[in-house]
Amino acid sequence: MATVIVKASDLQRVDGRLPGDWTVCSVEVKDFPNGETIVYIDPDQVSTADPPYILLWWAYPSVQDNVFRLLEVLDVLDVYCGDGDVVLVLPYLPYSRQDKRFREGEPLTLRLFLETVCSRGVDRIISFDVHNPVAFMRYSPVYAVSISLLPSLVENIVRSMGDDKLVLVAPDRGRAPLVDSLSSLFGVDYLVVEKMRDRVTGEVSFNFETVGGEISSYDVAVIVDDEISTGGTVAGVSSFLKTRGVKRVYAVATHLFLVGGAEERLSSSGVDLVMGSDTVRYDEHVAISIVDLLPDIAGSM
Ligand code: R5P
Repeated sequence: MATVIVKASDLQRVDGRLPGDWTVCSVEVKDFPNGETIVYIDPDQVSTADPPYILLWWAYPSVQDNVFRLLEVLDVLDVYCGDGDVVLVLPYLPYSRQDKRFREGEPLTLRLFLETVCSRGVDRIISFDVHNPVAFMRYSPVYAVSISLLPSLVENIVRSMGDDKLVLVAPDRGRAPLVDSLSSLFGVDYLVVEKMRDRVTGEVSFNFETVGGEISSYDVAVIVDDEISTGGTVAGVSSFLKTRGVKRVYAVATHLFLVGGAEERLSSSGVDLVMGSDTVRYDEHVAISIVDLLPDIAGSM
């Protein structure tokens, strides 16, 4: 038994997809004219709910508002479920990319976020393909786990390949260990690209000197990343691979933000297919749905 607590606007994401003995408690959200926001949970419903209390919280879009709403929900749960096991499930971990102080004068937002939410009565925290899982565990004051959806995403592509020769591509050195392990898991080759990001402007440039192997011998290159935001990273790597003779380029990432003209950028750089999960978006772009997310949550209880 367990109780899942979600925003009323996210009920459709879990409807009919939870284990039979789990119940759902919804969170109403109201915004005041001055921009402040407040949540409401039916006290009768939440006070009779069964632990563990799984707060399943999609924080995007409108991340600033949703982070504050999350704190408000925790404040309500503290009244009704304070002695129970509160499990915070964040499909995408907000502010996780700033996992260190990249420049003097910047905050360490990953730690700030984790310490803030965990100070409000969270007992465990679960997320998916966190940008830096080691920093996630290090900075979380409570038990923290990052579940990867990438093996099942990549498996879908590998299984559909037939005789085509496939290579997995790490778009930067940070993804190299992950892509290395996926290549071992599925018995396919992999390449590593070196990406550099200007910390002030955010501009990305690539150095392909570290790429090994004969790129033109591959029919399909699958770029694997934790997230696609503006698509600049994947587009840069895709253009390079296509000019080197790769026939098809696929992009696989757990978190699909696809902002700032990403779809156009990906398409014009020759990306043939984008696959991801619905940790961020819930629309026609998503190739893998919440059906795949929920069993992982259930399995980790
Ligand atoms: C960065 O280190 C991440 O792993 C992604 O490569 C990055 O967030 C993608 O961003 P964009 O799509 O804007 O290039």
